[in-house]
Amino acid sequence: MKIIVCGCGPGSPDYLTLAVHREVAGAAVLVGAQRLLDLFPLTDAEKIPVGADIEGILIIIENRWQRQQVVVLVTGDPGISSLAQPVIKRFGRDACFLIPGISSVQVAFARLGLDWTDAKIIDAHGKNPEYDLDDSGKVKKLAILGGRQEASAWVQSCCRRWGDDYRLFCCENLSLPGERISEVTPEDLDDSALSSLTVFLLIRRDCL
Ligand SMILES: C[S@@+](CC[C@H](N)C(=O)[O-])C[C@H]1O[C@@H](n2cnc3c(N)ncnc32)[C@H](O)[C@@H]1O
Repeated sequence: MKIIVCGCGPGSPDYLTLAVHREVAGAAVLVGAQRLLDLFPLTDAEKIPVGADIEGILIIIENRWQRQQVVVLVTGDPGISSLAQPVIKRFGRDACFLIPGISSVQVAFARLGLDWTDAKIIDAHGKNPEYDLDDSGKVKKLAILGGRQEASAWVQSCCRRWGDDYRLFCCENLSLPGERISEVTPEDLDDSALSSLTVFLLIRRDCL
């Protein structure tokens, strides 16, 4: 038996794949953030909500996965800043099977109608990124996982460093009620209460 890690998309049930529905139908135990567990009201599986205590969740998985089908639900795609890596690190790559999902980053680029082959993705969701802002000459498109005040401050410093060659977009609550895509200035971020589900796109002007 393998631990199945399912990418559940940006939040709307419309963005859940059939592959994920199939895995959830076969699950004995579902592990994930409450809002992801809520996407599957009809399942008989035991639901275990994930909070801040990642080590606690890994211990729960450790006690179950060899005798019960454990399915771990993550937001978006498992390959972008998700619980997938701690799970793989603990149990090994061979013990895990990942089902991709639609990332919030993909949705953000789709909303602007942009190709993202040349994009760089930065995670500022949990802590400020260690990213060399002097790299900017090489980057045309930057997607930043935000959603907390410190992330917005980091984005502001990035914009100030890179100057007027870039345009900044806030993509909030993608696929969910209250979805909002807005172009902002760095100053706008001073007093804006952004959603905890926000992707910033910083796009070089000549790409738009
Ligand atoms: C832990 S990361 C997970 C990223 C996820 N694996 C993905 O591929 O989208 C959480 C961050 O994803 C972004 N995010 C997730 N869902 C979102 C949504 N519906 N709208 C906007 N941003 C979202 C936010 O930046 C949030 O802080």
